[in-house]
Amino acid sequence: MPDPDMQLELAELLSLAVDLAHRAGAIVRDGRGGELAVAAKSTPTDPVTDVDRATERFLVEQLRARRPGDAVLGEEGAEQPGSTGIRWLLDPIDGTVNFLYGVPQYAVSVAAERDGETMVGCVHNPVSGETFMAVRGSGAWLGARQLTADGAATSLDQAVLGTGFSYDAGRRAGQGRVLAGVLPRVANLRRLGAASLDLCFVAAGRLDGYYEQGLAPWDMAAGLLVAREAGAVVSGLRGRPPNEVIAVAASPAVAGELVKLLEELGADEV
Ligand code: IPD
Repeated sequence: MPDPDMQLELAELLSLAVDLAHRAGAIVRDGRGGELAVAAKSTPTDPVTDVDRATERFLVEQLRARRPGDAVLGEEGAEQPGSTGIRWLLDPIDGTVNFLYGVPQYAVSVAAERDGETMVGCVHNPVSGETFMAVRGSGAWLGARQLTADGAATSLDQAVLGTGFSYDAGRRAGQGRVLAGVLPRVANLRRLGAASLDLCFVAAGRLDGYYEQGLAPWDMAAGLLVAREAGAVVSGLRGRPPNEVIAVAASPAVAGELVKLLEELGADEV
């Protein structure tokens, strides 16, 4: 249990993360109503819209005003050093392809880490209005409801998993080969399109497990904390913590079997 000063600081960080995610979510929601300007990023099929950029600018300006000494790293290029040991990880729209197509599964993801450890996280879907949040060592919530990663499956063959795919076609082909080995071993699979929400869905028992290769820190920081604090087993493969090669989150009932299968399939080599 963190000491009282630390608890107060964590409560302040969470309250700021939730406030920022909600206000940024309003910008994202309103932005969907207008004409969208779209450009390509890492590959021709990796889109960024003017709303992603404007929302990140808003988040960075707010943090600069309210926590001027903190570092910031954002998906759309924000990178600022800090002096407090706190760094904010920002994804203004996680699930940009869904946002573009009007599929209501996208989120603002805001996390604060201290010395590399995520301390608080908030993932807010501005369409459904759902807000997932977590504080390190204190639990995870969907609104006022405390979360438990208690998906229905009691073994991997009954599990419904989530995953996601790279914007890079070559890497996606490798992910497809791994997936071909996973599909016959599980009950079914969903590709919902926003990693932060997939992780929160594991936390809420809406998925039994999730894995993805190649996530960036801003995609996963808040969602991994929500999943872990809800009691999900969160890891990489071969004894590693979750990382940019592969991140896995699953209910305790299926996590061991899932990690073993992914290791056998070389899911960390694509
Ligand atoms: C993407 C989404 C997607 C995942 C990709 C991410 P973005 O984030 O989370 O579900 O499969 O790996 O890059 O680009 O929409 O912020």
